Order: sequence, then C-alpha cells, then structure tokens
Amino acid sequence: MTDMGAGAAIHVEHVSKTFVTKDGTTEAVADVSFDVPSGSFVSLIGPSGCGKTTVARMIGDLLAPTSGEITIDGESPSVARGHRRIGFVFQRPTLVAWRSVLKNVTLPLDVLGWPRAKKRERAMELLDLVGLADFANHRPDQLSGGMQHRAAIARALSYDPGVLIMDEPFGALDLITRDRMGFELLRIWAEAKKTVIFITHSIEEAVLLSTTVLAMAARPTYVQELVPITLERPRVVEHRQDPRFLQATAKLREMLEQNG
Ligand SMILES: Nc1ncnc2c1ncn2[C@@H]1O[C@H](COP(=O)(O)OP(=O)(O)OP(=O)(O)O)[C@@H](O)[C@H]1O
Ligand SMILES: [Mg+2]
Repeated sequence: MTDMGAGAAIHVEHVSKTFVTKDGTTEAVADVSFDVPSGSFVSLIGPSGCGKTTVARMIGDLLAPTSGEITIDGESPSVARGHRRIGFVFQRPTLVAWRSVLKNVTLPLDVLGWPRAKKRERAMELLDLVGLADFANHRPDQLSGGMQHRAAIARALSYDPGVLIMDEPFGALDLITRDRMGFELLRIWAEAKKTVIFITHSIEEAVLLSTTVLAMAARPTYVQELVPITLERPRVVEHRQDPRFLQATAKLREMLEQNG
C-alpha cells in the first residue's frame, strides 16, 4: 500500500446536536468534546440512543452540529468530505447487487473520473488487502456476510480517506466471524495507517480492537470517560484473558450500567 496516505487527526469541541421534529425537540448530543489522534483506533460505546451515530454523522459531514466545532486535520467536515478524507462503513454492507465486487470497489472512483486502468489497479490492490482478490468478478450475493463487509471496507478505502468511520459494521455477524473480522480490520488499519472511528455495542470488541474507548452517557450525550487500552499489538484473542483487558471491560461495564 505504498501510495496510501496516512490517517488524520480529529478534534470535536463542545459539539451539540438538537433535532427538531414535529413532536418536539430532542437534545441528542450535549457538549461533546474529544480528540482522536491521527492513526488511532477509537471506539464509541454507550447505550442505545445515546448519540453515537449522530456524533459519527457530524464528523462525516452527513449532519451539521447545532453548535460547536469539528475539524479533521484542521479542515471542517464539509471541506474534508469534499477532499475525500472520510470513508464510511455502515452496519449493512450496501453493495450494489448487479455490479461485481471489483466494480463495487471502483464505484466511488467512477464518480471521481479516474481512468479505467488506474481504477482497476487500485481496486485489485484493496481487494488483495481485504483478502478478496480471488472474488473480484463475483457478485455480492455470491459472498458470505463477512466477505461482503470486507468488500465494503475496500470500497470505503478506495479513494484513500484519512478517516474511516464504521457504525456497528459487524453487528449482524456471528461471534466467531465477528472476532475474525475485527482482527482483519486491525491488520488493514495497521497496513493502511488510517484513523478509525468504530461504533459498537460490544465492550469486549471495543477493548480488544481500540487504542482508546470513549464511553458515552445516555441522553443528552456527553463523553463520560476516555479509557486508553494499553494492550500491546498485534492484538490476539488471548488478550481476552489479560488482566488489563478484564480491568478495562469491567470499568466500562460499570460505567454503562450506571447510565443504561
Ligand atoms: N434525524 C433525526 N431526527 C430526529 N431525531 C433523531 C434523528 N437522528 C437521531 N435522532 C435522535 O437522537 C438520539 C440519538 O440517536 P443516535 O442514532 O445517534 O443514537 P445511537 O447512540 O447511535 O443509538 P444506537 O446504539 O441504537 O444506534 C435519539 O434519541 C434519536 O431518536
Ligand atoms: Mg447508532
């Protein structure tokens, strides 16, 4: 991945979001501040409805904050998005059914007008990275769920964003596949050197993968605690028995139970 750019630093400062609907207003996010260093892997964890997706959407310029400021390597989210510095992976892989895996990965590059040979070269490089090189010409429905997720990750990396935002990407997978996907994601993250914002409901998954876990309290959301995870890398499944793993998961569980 020699021509891939590095990650980007994210600053979230006093960000709030109030939704106004016909049934009234919802203060979804209240005064959230945190920093994500370039190249780190930060998980957001917190009870359902606490505002994780809203925060991720504001970082990715899919939603504007009501107040506060977000910067990505010093740029506003809309400028960063215009410069293709942000990639998204959602809970469902949302691949285009009638396009091959390769053509799904090149989709964002079509929009950018990349020449055909260059698109193909980039897509094959990424499919190789996610272990799908042999499936380039398959259609999405010929892949397993985990393989579809890997294709979606390759697509999100196609235009080389510094930031990868993943909103519960593995929620629909069985536990064994989920663990495997997590470790594959870490390998991709280490190789491509991206900044990852990862949303999950699994405390164990967050601790096993992250450099820092950000625990959010229920509505209105604020950052309750940043828990640095000091386990060495590469992370391995045996880390689940490590005292530091057990300590971090216990601490996070206690925090979430207080706010559930
Ligand atoms: N477009 C919207 N319009 C109105 N309210 C919204 C909108 N999007 C989110 N909300 C509200 O904001 C709050 C936070 O929602 P959000 O989706 O960010 O939570 P979440 O932490 O991602 O939850 P989950 O873990 O269930 O995915 C909720 O009360 C939700 O109803
Ligand atoms: Mg959500």
